[in-house]
Amino acid sequence: MKHKISENQTRLIYHNPVSLITSNYHDKKNVFTVSWLCAVSKNPQLAMISVDKRRASFPLIKESGKYVINIPNLKMLKDVIYCGSVSAKDKDKFQERNFKFSVSENSGIILDDAIAFVECEVVNEFDVGDHVLFVGKIINAGAEEDVFTNGKWNMDNKDAQTLSFLGEGNYIITSKIDHKKKIKF
Ligand SMILES: Cc1cc2nc3c(=O)[nH]c(=O)nc-3n(C[C@H](O)[C@H](O)[C@H](O)COP(=O)(O)O)c2cc1C
Repeated sequence: MKHKISENQTRLIYHNPVSLITSNYHDKKNVFTVSWLCAVSKNPQLAMISVDKRRASFPLIKESGKYVINIPNLKMLKDVIYCGSVSAKDKDKFQERNFKFSVSENSGIILDDAIAFVECEVVNEFDVGDHVLFVGKIINAGAEEDVFTNGKWNMDNKDAQTLSFLGEGNYIITSKIDHKKKIKF
């Protein structure tokens, strides 16, 4: 069960976790994998994703002006790979992976199995070549209580381990270094 995050929502993506982006426009919904995402402003709280114009998700995000960053953990690696290699042009990924989800009051699709989500409304977009950067104002965010507790990632819990992408099918998982405790100058 996810609890609502009202402050420091961008902290959910400070580490740029590989994420599953959901979009929803009229009767079409989609989910695809991104690794090019980051927090870009604290006040207002803004997040950015970089989307290739060829993606089936691209027109859905552009037309609806919304997207949800669903943050998977290691347990969802197969979903990450599948949603990052199969297009909605060919398959209904929700059906194929049997994703369970809820729909927010802003029509955002929130995946049950993701450990956290950040729901965004597009406030700016930048055409940067083959990709478009969608900058989104965070309008809703939530996380599993035991992975993101009192506004911080709880890295003592293995379920809080998210993925980073190195390219060529290689991933690493997050682990924490507390510089206040471990690094002395
Ligand atoms: C780990 C990983 C990271 C990816 N990152 C991005 C990204 O940042 N932006 C992007 O446009 N595509 C990215 N992709 C590729 C898309 O997820 C992939 O082309 C997907 O099939 C597009 O789905 P769609 O056509 O249904 O939208 C990534 C793929 C993987 C496996």
